[in-house]
Amino acid sequence: MIGIDTSPAMIEQARVRAAEAGVELDLREDDMREFELDEPAALIYCPFWALLHLPSWADRRRAFERVAASLQQGGRFAWNTFAFDHRFAALSDGEHKDKPVPHTVRYSVGDNRIDLILDQGGKSSLWWASKNEWLGLIDVAGLCLEALYSGFDGEPFTDDSREYVFVARRPTS
Ligand SMILES: C[S@@+](CC[C@H](N)C(=O)[O-])C[C@H]1O[C@@H](n2cnc3c(N)ncnc32)[C@H](O)[C@@H]1O
Repeated sequence: MIGIDTSPAMIEQARVRAAEAGVELDLREDDMREFELDEPAALIYCPFWALLHLPSWADRRRAFERVAASLQQGGRFAWNTFAFDHRFAALSDGEHKDKPVPHTVRYSVGDNRIDLILDQGGKSSLWWASKNEWLGLIDVAGLCLEALYSGFDGEPFTDDSREYVFVARRPTS
C-alpha cells in the first residue's frame, strides 16, 4: 500500500504507526495534485477531509485528474468531507478548543474557509465545498459516482446528513 503526504512530519508519524501495527507501507512525500503511480491502483482513498486542504476548485480538479489517471479501469476513489452547516459555523466561530492541540476556530464564509489557528503559532485551513462541486469534479475527471454515504459504515445519505462519503469509479471502457 502506498501513502502520500506533502508533510514530512506526517509521513514520519505514519511510518512509526505502521511499524507499531506491523503494516508495510510505501510512504512518499508527494502532492496529491502531482502524484504518479508506476502501476494503476484498484483503490485510492483520501480520508479525514484531506481534500479540503486544497484552496481552489482548480487544485481539486488537478488532484481528481491525477486520481483518474492512476486508477485501473473499474477502480474506485473514496473520500470524505463535511457538509457546511451554518448553525454549526455560527456556534464554532471564535471558539477556543484544547484538543487535539489548543487552537481557535475562525470561519471566513466569503472564502468558504475555516482556519484552525494554533495557540503555539501556525494555522491549518480547510476550504469546504458543496455536493454539486464534488459531483462536478467527478464529472470533469471522467469518473462516475458509485455511491454517496454519510459515514464509512455505509450509512445512508439523507437531507439531515452532515458528512459526505463519496465513492467514485473509473469506467471500464
Ligand atoms: C487531516 S490530515 C490526514 C492525515 C493522514 N493522511 C491520515 O489519513 O491520517 C490531512 C493531511 O493532508 C496533507 N496535505 C495537505 N495538502 C496536501 C497535498 N496537496 N497533497 C498531499 N497531502 C496534502 C496534510 O499534510 C495532512 O497531513
